[in-house]
Amino acid sequence: MSRVWIKPVPHCLVSNQIAICYIGSAKLCPEAEYYLNSLNRNYFSFLCRKINDMIAAGDINITKVERSKLKDINLENIPFGKYFTDHMLEVDYEDGEWKNAEIKPYQPLLLEPSVAALHYGQAIFEGVKAYKNANGEAHIFRPLDNFKRFNISAERMQMPQVPEEIFMEGMRMLINLDKNWIPQQEDHSLYIRPFMFSCDEMIGVRPSEKYKFLIILSPTGPYYSAPMRIYVEEKYVRAVPGGVGYAKAAGNYGAAMYATAQAKKIGYDQVLWTDAYEHKYVQECGTMNVFFIIGNMAITPGLEAGTILAGVTRDSTITLLKEMGFNVEERPLSINDIIDAHKAGILYEVFGTGTAATISLIKELRYKDYVMEFDVEKWKTAPELKRQLNAIRYGQQADTHGWMHKI
Ligand code: COI
Repeated sequence: MSRVWIKPVPHCLVSNQIAICYIGSAKLCPEAEYYLNSLNRNYFSFLCRKINDMIAAGDINITKVERSKLKDINLENIPFGKYFTDHMLEVDYEDGEWKNAEIKPYQPLLLEPSVAALHYGQAIFEGVKAYKNANGEAHIFRPLDNFKRFNISAERMQMPQVPEEIFMEGMRMLINLDKNWIPQQEDHSLYIRPFMFSCDEMIGVRPSEKYKFLIILSPTGPYYSAPMRIYVEEKYVRAVPGGVGYAKAAGNYGAAMYATAQAKKIGYDQVLWTDAYEHKYVQECGTMNVFFIIGNMAITPGLEAGTILAGVTRDSTITLLKEMGFNVEERPLSINDIIDAHKAGILYEVFGTGTAATISLIKELRYKDYVMEFDVEKWKTAPELKRQLNAIRYGQQADTHGWMHKI
């Protein structure tokens, strides 16, 4: 394929469609033309994607730091989300296209106070993690799933789609540059934070015409370090059908803070959200999806109402639970059913899942005055899930699901 003659692309970054048209009009040497004509459809689209990636990668300018900050930081027992690596990716959306893709030293953004995201919250993000295996090779856990979810959030918030080559290749190049920042000890990883926000300098309420897409990286330890006490919330709500609960919109997290603060005042770590109509069916727990092991079933709230984030760790947990022999049910689960199972002695385990949290054990659940306490030391399922996920991520167990994406 090295003989295919591709003209320089006039725009910095191109969408799939433009790339395909572009390739269609590119000047090819005769052999390449014959070869391309004879390709089957799948291979042709694979080739387009590859060429697209090459174009995008070639168009991401890199400016490296003169001196790495890594020397000043101890990567052992590092707190969650406090330190950031040397570099970041920044890309602009203007005039209907993505441009100015740059990897550069981590630095403040210069923004006008009128910038729309600050006023109306057109802002979305993702959480992804990279790990280093025993051979020192860096891998990202299921980044394509985060990429897809990112664009689902973008659509719901009336924001532009970020092309796969920018999201994936930008992430890969950035991590490659800062791979020495990936901590290697258990429960540590490099947390990857892709995000996008609206940038029009204007205080009228309408979708922006300008956006920024960035990726920053944070070497990180566990998010919740100890088993949690959870308060079942019946006054405030996180999500309603028809709302933005399924999107990773920044406002979902801001809106959760008041209720969480109230629960913290009375000694709880997080709230378990319930549905907006009846406060009867459980939804998410803090920033996590939630699972209940009841008898031989593993139950987690379903995604159909659009009130639950389709967690990548949630999906991985469902897969592993099925392999462990559980009947996994994704469906509405009422707090009354949970209490009945507790009274019957068959509510065995309750845990949260999330990129940041991984698998977090819940040692107490309180609904009104009814308190359910658990002896987490005796649990088998959640610790086994965590063990398997960690083993896959750190390369100690075969990645039979194709979850690890090599840098
Ligand atoms: C994640 O699990 O990645 C999250 O986004 C949760 C939180 C850190 C906001």
